[in-house]
Amino acid sequence: MRTMLLAHLRCPLDGGPLELQAAPAELDRGWVETGTLVNPRTGATYPIRAGMAYLYVDDERWQPLAREAAGWVQYHQDHQMYDQAGSDIDFQTPYFPHDPWITVARNFDIAREIIQPQPGMWVLDVGAGRGWASKHLALAGCNVVAVDITADDQVGLGRAQAIMQQAGTCFDPIIADNENLPLKTARSI
Ligand SMILES: C[S@@+](CC[C@H](N)C(=O)[O-])C[C@H]1O[C@@H](n2cnc3c(N)ncnc32)[C@H](O)[C@@H]1O
Repeated sequence: MRTMLLAHLRCPLDGGPLELQAAPAELDRGWVETGTLVNPRTGATYPIRAGMAYLYVDDERWQPLAREAAGWVQYHQDHQMYDQAGSDIDFQTPYFPHDPWITVARNFDIAREIIQPQPGMWVLDVGAGRGWASKHLALAGCNVVAVDITADDQVGLGRAQAIMQQAGTCFDPIIADNENLPLKTARSI
């Protein structure tokens, strides 16, 4: 997680601001691999692991989402599409010359025309999957926050680290619910 994101994050429980705890070297370089986000008012804590912030509360709202996330993993395992080792499809998507990617690429190009990505623009990629769209927008200079409920390192946002490294770019993967975004809004404190 980039330290610059902290000002935009809010506690998913009460919308309050968060503090970032991490090793001084990580704070200095502006990227936190391992750390903790803390709501100083309530003491609620949220981990950062492998550069990814886990900003949800494991309650009755989250549990169906956790089951859905497990379902995505199971689906890929059942269809022999799980293990990404040795595969560079994720590094090419959506520009991969086979269905469904031909259609996805066309749609993504249309979305890009609409978004008109500019350097410094903030973009929220909701239901980001592995983060391939976030990658392309980050390469265009955007500050991208990629949100998904699936953290898995093969078929979820955990794959984003490999995608970022291969492309030489950076965005912020967050495990959270689209319906309860842990982000500052015009109404945030
Ligand atoms: C069809 S996949 C699309 C992934 C990606 N956008 C792509 O095109 O490759 C839908 C994604 O939405 C995520 N998702 C479903 N419900 C969500 C929620 N409430 N909040 C955040 N992500 C969610 C799933 O985990 C899954 O990765």
